[in-house]
Amino acid sequence: MPKRRDVLALFLILLPWTLLITFWQQLAGCPLIPVPKDNRTGASKANQSGFRLHESCITMNKSITKATQIKYVYQRPPPWSDTLPTLHVITPTYSRPVQKAELTRLTNTLLLIPNLHWLVVEDSVQKTAMVSRLLENTGMNYTHLNVETPKNLKTLKKPRNHSFPRGSMQRNLALSWLREHINQNSSHKGVVYFADDDNTYCLELFEEMRWTRKVSVWPVALVGGLRYESPRINSQGKVIGWKTLFDPQRPFGIDMAGFAVNLQLILSRPQACFKLKGVKSKYQEGSLLQDLVTLSDLEPKAANCTKILVWHTRTERPFLGNEGKKGFRSGTLEV
Ligand SMILES: *[C@@H]1O[C@H](CO)[C@@H](O)[C@H](O)[C@H]1NC(C)=O
Ligand SMILES: *[C@@H]1O[C@H](CO)[C@@H](O)[C@H](O)[C@H]1NC(C)=O
Ligand SMILES: *[C@@H]1O[C@H](CO)[C@@H](O)[C@H](O)[C@H]1NC(C)=O
Ligand SMILES: *[C@@H]1O[C@H](CO)[C@@H](O)[C@H](O)[C@H]1NC(C)=O
Ligand SMILES: *[C@@H]1O[C@H](CO)[C@@H](O)[C@H](O)[C@H]1NC(C)=O
Ligand SMILES: *[C@@H]1O[C@H](CO)[C@@H](O)[C@H](O)[C@H]1NC(C)=O
Ligand SMILES: *[C@@H]1O[C@H](CO)[C@@H](O)[C@H](O)[C@H]1NC(C)=O
Repeated sequence: MPKRRDVLALFLILLPWTLLITFWQQLAGCPLIPVPKDNRTGASKANQSGFRLHESCITMNKSITKATQIKYVYQRPPPWSDTLPTLHVITPTYSRPVQKAELTRLTNTLLLIPNLHWLVVEDSVQKTAMVSRLLENTGMNYTHLNVETPKNLKTLKKPRNHSFPRGSMQRNLALSWLREHINQNSSHKGVVYFADDDNTYCLELFEEMRWTRKVSVWPVALVGGLRYESPRINSQGKVIGWKTLFDPQRPFGIDMAGFAVNLQLILSRPQACFKLKGVKSKYQEGSLLQDLVTLSDLEPKAANCTKILVWHTRTERPFLGNEGKKGFRSGTLEV
């Protein structure tokens, strides 16, 4: 039984939002979230007397401004623009108990970004029904691919075994897809970003990277055993090295989440890819970047690398040890 105090607290938190949303729907006369199957227009015309009493409380200009923001944010996805470069976001993913939760969270972020093409590459023999359905339901522009990392390269028992970084084959497959499907001679403007499904992304990050000319870079938080790692920037605003504990002398001491590449550059260097053999995990990023740019080409973003816009969060592995205990199983629902 939830405590009465908790129920009251929840009610008080939800009430203003319910009122705001309801008021906005009435104001605009159209659904907040254009979900086709949901007859929200009809619903908004239904008897809403329960809320009428409170409407005067939220007609202040401040509240109306908020309602306008809600309208902008909740268009799923935002309308396609002919002028903005496309962000090609590459996400390798593999089956595990938190996979759907992670992909759902990432979807909720990416749905807010205009002109985004999501390339999701499963590490699996075939595309799974779960990921296929999830992508279809987003309404986004996406490409669903799969390639299984060969068993002898997998590091299942030792996920931290750095001899073969997870996701490299999947990222390479997405790069090949782009090279095969986008004509280098077309005027298509774009940027490529590698967004793993276990990170947290600020929306600002995507606008920072959108106009990348060659390769743009920024700090990444909660990585390398540090609060953050960052490119080292000189007074002229140029990248001169890396603020990392682990081998700062690496040519590119940067995390996968810390850079984006201009699409034309990817297309014009068909050999550039993540090297699969003889590259340790902390050198993976460099194995791609060394074929694309030199240090002096890098474009620092996020206010000359003074802002954190992405976190290497990682989700705790859930405890599922009670499955099968005393013959009890939770069931067959998709999780
Ligand atoms: C949707 O709402 C409209 C307007 O209120 C109503 O005429 C229609 O029957 C509703 N459709 C469904 C499927 O509920
Ligand atoms: C709507 O609410 C009013 C009171 O505000 C009530 O008189 C009326 O019967 C309600 N109509 C329906 C269809 O519930
Ligand atoms: C909202 O602000 C405008 C000007 O800023 C003012 O003219 C108008 O009366 C205000 N409306 C309400 C409902 O407070
Ligand atoms: C997907 O991209 C195409 C252009 O490549 C665009 O015309 C279309 O509107 C986009 N669809 C969505 C749902 O954003
Ligand atoms: C990592 O795995 C490879 C083979 O898959 C093995 O040779 C190597 O010793 C392992 N390294 C560590 C640190 O466990
Ligand atoms: C691009 O254009 C050049 C010269 O106009 C041509 O030689 C080349 O085949 C074109 N490439 C593609 C992929 O269409
Ligand atoms: C970055 O630093 C350079 C050189 O100090 C400066 O010219 C530029 O305005 C800075 N950019 C931002 C976004 O702060």
